[in-house]
Amino acid sequence: MQKILITGGAGFIGSNFVRHMLNEYKSYRLIVLDALTYAGNLENLADVWQHPNFIFYKGNIGDPDCVANVVQNVDAIVNFAAETHVDRSIHGAGNFVQTDVYGTFTLLEAAKKYKIERYLQISTDEVYGSILEGAFQETDPLRPSSPYSASKASGDMLVHSYYVTYDLPVLITRSSNNYGPYQYPEKLIPLFITNALENKPLPLYGDGQNVRDWIYVEDNCKAVDYVLHHGTIGEVYNIGGGNERTNIYITKKILQLLDKPESLITPVKDRPGHDRRYAVDCSKIQALGWKPQVDFEEGIAKTVHWYQDHPQWWMALKAKKADFQAFYRKNYESS
Ligand code: NAD
Ligand code: TYD
Repeated sequence: MQKILITGGAGFIGSNFVRHMLNEYKSYRLIVLDALTYAGNLENLADVWQHPNFIFYKGNIGDPDCVANVVQNVDAIVNFAAETHVDRSIHGAGNFVQTDVYGTFTLLEAAKKYKIERYLQISTDEVYGSILEGAFQETDPLRPSSPYSASKASGDMLVHSYYVTYDLPVLITRSSNNYGPYQYPEKLIPLFITNALENKPLPLYGDGQNVRDWIYVEDNCKAVDYVLHHGTIGEVYNIGGGNERTNIYITKKILQLLDKPESLITPVKDRPGHDRRYAVDCSKIQALGWKPQVDFEEGIAKTVHWYQDHPQWWMALKAKKADFQAFYRKNYESS
C-alpha cells in the first residue's frame, strides 16, 4: 500500500489525517479528492501543499468519471468525504443522500473495478442513535435519528454489502465527536469558541444536558491509521475518546478558558430529533493496540488556543454570506 486516496481531505478530520500520514509514512503518496463544498478549505492543507508526496484533485465523489480517473491510480481509499452537519441535514437532506450514499456507492464501484487493496469508510457513532445508559458495540443495530446519520448508516450498509457480495476488502470506523484545529465553525466547539471571542451569544439547544463523547482529532487520525494497517477486513471499529461531557459543561469550560462571562450563554429552541447521548464501546480497537492519548481538559485548552491564534482562518469562513451567515440566520433566528 503506497498510494492512498483520501477523499474529503480538505475538511476538518481529512486535513488532519493528511498531515498525520505525511509525518508518519515517508514513502506513501497521498492523493486528496475533494469537491471543496462550503466545508472544504484549501487553507486547511496550506502547510502540506508543496510536499512532494501530496497531490490534490478537485472533484465530486458522486462523479463516476472523475472517481474512476483517480481510483485507477491508487492502492487504497479512505473515504472522509461527506455532508456532516446534523442541523444542515434537518434543513435539507438532498446533498446528504447524494454524497453520503450515492458518493459512497460511486467510490465502491470504482474500488471494485480497479481491485483496490483496502477501502476504509469513515463513519460515525451517530449511526447507532441515542443511548441513555451503557455503550454501543459494533454488532448493535443501526437506528439513526437525523437525515445526516441515516445517510451515513446507508453508506455503511452499502460498504458492508460490497464486502459480502464482491469480497471487496472494506473496513469501517465509527468515531465519536471530534474536536481540534481546522473544524468548520458551525459545530458546537468551534462555533462557541469563535462566538465567545467575538462576544456574541452561544446558542445552547434545549436544556444543555445532551451528552457526547469527545475525541481529540489527532487521536482519531491515529486510530484510523491503526485500522487501515491492522484492522481485519470486513470489520467495523468504534473509536471513542472516553470523554463524556454535557453541552453545558463544554460551554462553561470554553467561557472559563477565554475569561468570558456566562451571560453569553443563550438557550435556544431544541434541535428536532436531538439525540440525548452517544456512547461507543471501544474494546475492539483497543485490542488492536490503540488508545486515546489526549484527555479532554488538555485537548479543549489546546483547541481554544488554536482558534485564538488563527483568527484570520475562522473569520474568513464566518464572513461568507452564502456559506455561513445564511445558514446561521435560518437555523437560529426562528428560536
Ligand atoms: P467536514 O464537513 O469538515 O469535511 C467534509 C469534507 O468533504 C469537505 O472538505 C468537503 O468539501 C468534502 N466533500 C463533501 N462532499 C463531497 C463530495 N460530494 N465529493 C468530494 N468531497 C466532498 O467533515 P469532518 O468533520 O472532517 O468529517 C469527516 C468524516 O468523518 C465524515 O465522513 C463524517 O461523517 C465523519 N465523522 C465526523 C465526526 C466529527 O465529529 N466531525 C465524527 C464522526 C465521524
Ligand atoms: P454538533 O457539533 O452539531 O455535533 P453532533 O450533533 O453531530 O453531535 O453538536 C454537538 C452537541 O451540541 C449536540 O448535542 C447539539 C449541541 N449544539 C448546541 O447546543 N448549539 C449549537 O449551536 C450546536 C451547533 C450544537
